Amino acid sequence: MSVFQYKNVYAGYSKEMDVLHGISFSLEEDSRIALIGANGAGKSTIMKTISGLVPLREGEILYQGERIDTLWPHEIVRKGIIQVPEEGGTFPNLTIEENLNISCINKKAKSHFEANRDMVYDMFAPLKEKRHMMADSLSGGQRKMLSIGKAIMGEPEILLLDDISMGLAPKVVEDLYRQLKELVNHLKKPVLVVEQIMEIALQFADYGHVVQQGRIVLSGTSEELLNSEEVKRSYIGG
Ligand SMILES: Nc1ncnc2c1ncn2[C@@H]1O[C@H](COP(=O)(O)OP(=O)(O)OP(=O)(O)O)[C@@H](O)[C@H]1O
Ligand SMILES: [Mg+2]
Repeated sequence: MSVFQYKNVYAGYSKEMDVLHGISFSLEEDSRIALIGANGAGKSTIMKTISGLVPLREGEILYQGERIDTLWPHEIVRKGIIQVPEEGGTFPNLTIEENLNISCINKKAKSHFEANRDMVYDMFAPLKEKRHMMADSLSGGQRKMLSIGKAIMGEPEILLLDDISMGLAPKVVEDLYRQLKELVNHLKKPVLVVEQIMEIALQFADYGHVVQQGRIVLSGTSEELLNSEEVKRSYIGG
C-alpha cells in the first residue's frame, strides 16, 4: 500500500466552483514526485488540501491508510506532513534560531533538535551566521532557506515543496535544489515538489504529473516527461 494516497479529490474556494476536478495520485516510501503545470492549474490548491487549508468537496486523502482530510492543519503538521509554502512560512519578528526552535512540533522532532539544527546550519551557512538576527533581516533566498530549515526541524514524514524557486535568482535556485537533493537522500521520505519551471522539478523528481485546469492530464517518469513533445510544446519554459 502507498504511504500516501490522494484519491479523486474535488475542491475549490467556493461552493459554486471547483478548482480541482477529480485528482488522484499516490506517494511511495522514498519517492520524489513532481506536480507541474501552468499558472493557475491548481498545484498550490492540491498542496493546500493536503495541509488541511482548503477543504475537500469530494474524495479522500490518506496517510498510512488513515484519512487526514478530516483533521485540522496543526494535527496534519504534527503527523510530519510538512509544507514549505509558496509564500511566507517564517516569522519575521523572531530570530532565525527562534524560528527553527518553534518548528519542533512533536516528540520525535524535539528529541532530534540539536542534530537537525546542526544539519540546517551546515546546509545553509547564512542562517548560521545570522542565527541571532531577526528573520526579517534575511534576503528572499535566505528566507526560503529558513522556511526549508523549519520544515527539516519538524522531522518531515512527507515533505511538500511549493514553488520554492519563485522570485529567486537562477543561481540561488540551483544551489537550493542541490542542497535539497542531499537532504532528501538523507531523509529517505516521500517528497512532493511543485514548480512552475518544470525542468527544475523533473530534474529533482523521479516521476511527475502534469496538472491542467484542475485535472492530471499526463503522468510519467521525469525522463519521459522531459522528452515528451507534448510537454515541450506546452510547458517547457513556462
Ligand atoms: N484564495 C483563493 N480564492 C479564490 N480562488 C483562488 C484562491 N487561490 C487560488 N485560486 C484560484 O484557483 C485556481 C488554481 O490556483 P492555484 O494557486 O492552485 O494554481 P497554481 O497551479 O499553484 O498556480 P501558480 O503556478 O501560479 O502558483 C486559480 O484559478 C486561482 O485563481
Ligand atoms: Mg502555486
